[in-house]
Amino acid sequence: MIKYLGSKRTLVPMLTQLAIASRAQTALDLFTGTTRVARGFKEQGLQVTAVDTASYSHVFAKTWIELDRNQCDQNELSEALAFLGELKPEAGYFTKTFCEDARYFQPKNGERVDAIRNAIESDFKTSWLYEPLLAALILSADRVDSTTGIQMAYLKQWASRSNNSLELQDPGLIGGSGKAILGDALEVVKQIPPVDLAYLDPPYNQHRYFANYHIWETLVRWDAPGTYGIANKREDVRTDTNRSPFNSKPNMAPALAQLIKDVQAETIVLSYNNESWLDRDQLIEMCRVKGEVEVIDVSFRRYIGGQIGVYNRQGQKVGKPGAKRNTEHVVIAGPKETVQRMLLASNRT
Ligand SMILES: C[S@@+](CC[C@H](N)C(=O)[O-])C[C@H]1O[C@@H](n2cnc3c(N)ncnc32)[C@H](O)[C@@H]1O
Repeated sequence: MIKYLGSKRTLVPMLTQLAIASRAQTALDLFTGTTRVARGFKEQGLQVTAVDTASYSHVFAKTWIELDRNQCDQNELSEALAFLGELKPEAGYFTKTFCEDARYFQPKNGERVDAIRNAIESDFKTSWLYEPLLAALILSADRVDSTTGIQMAYLKQWASRSNNSLELQDPGLIGGSGKAILGDALEVVKQIPPVDLAYLDPPYNQHRYFANYHIWETLVRWDAPGTYGIANKREDVRTDTNRSPFNSKPNMAPALAQLIKDVQAETIVLSYNNESWLDRDQLIEMCRVKGEVEVIDVSFRRYIGGQIGVYNRQGQKVGKPGAKRNTEHVVIAGPKETVQRMLLASNRT
């Protein structure tokens, strides 16, 4: 799975346990990102809806949440991956922008990304294979990148994994039914039919995912935007078009409170970091509209960049490294009996 800031990889077993204990049949993941949590739910047989504003996240949700493995021709997917994997490398926008003007990937891999991405657009645009092939391409590019996991900067020296050759792998579809929605959680939430369980994992600070993962946005949109700065970010990163109230300190609290009110879910699970804008008590207060509230505090390994410290453009250290671990508050709210059952289940994980 891709490197993703705020990804709940290590929380998935516990969140899945909570979902099982809640006895939910339907679930909603409103900030789905990598879709890890939504996938965990789907693998337990829940019918899941996954929402995010990021184009690459929508590709993941189409692939892992909306597609039903049992309805898909796996041979067709394998053949398409084999065909793309053998294409002749061809340098284009991706190579020039992200491998020559910037150094996120080695040119030998950038040339393969260009060739594969062009073929996905020309040969598979109207096929059910379009999203799984894009997902496979993002995953394979992520395995040979030269970053610490976000695309605000690339490493000064090539990361050793970037020497490897890009390899397309089957993204591994999941059986079951689900839905992918590309949109702002605040806007789409009212149109989503009631569910048994909603999971909310909003961004924690002012840094926008649109800027942090601009390369994946461009790889999905394939719109060859103008770029700026050393990091070669998309020009529209500078505009307001992709701003989320969840990245603004004054707007975050009212936006989250509204979302919790609006979401039509019997039970909600909200995860939020202890180093962020809202404290534990504020989270509890906001969730009371859903009924009984309990909090599980989970110690979490911090994002590696936060552990290394802050550097300026000359590579000099200008900030102190943060703590190695922080706490994720997992807030559960809903009918008393359900919440107590979930709490009990969490003690067993
Ligand atoms: C903390 S991450 C979620 C990580 C996810 N749970 C995972 O395990 O991969 C927050 C996500 O919220 C998305 N996002 C930001 N603002 C949003 C909004 N207004 N509506 C929906 N998604 C939003 C970001 O694109 C990002 O993927």
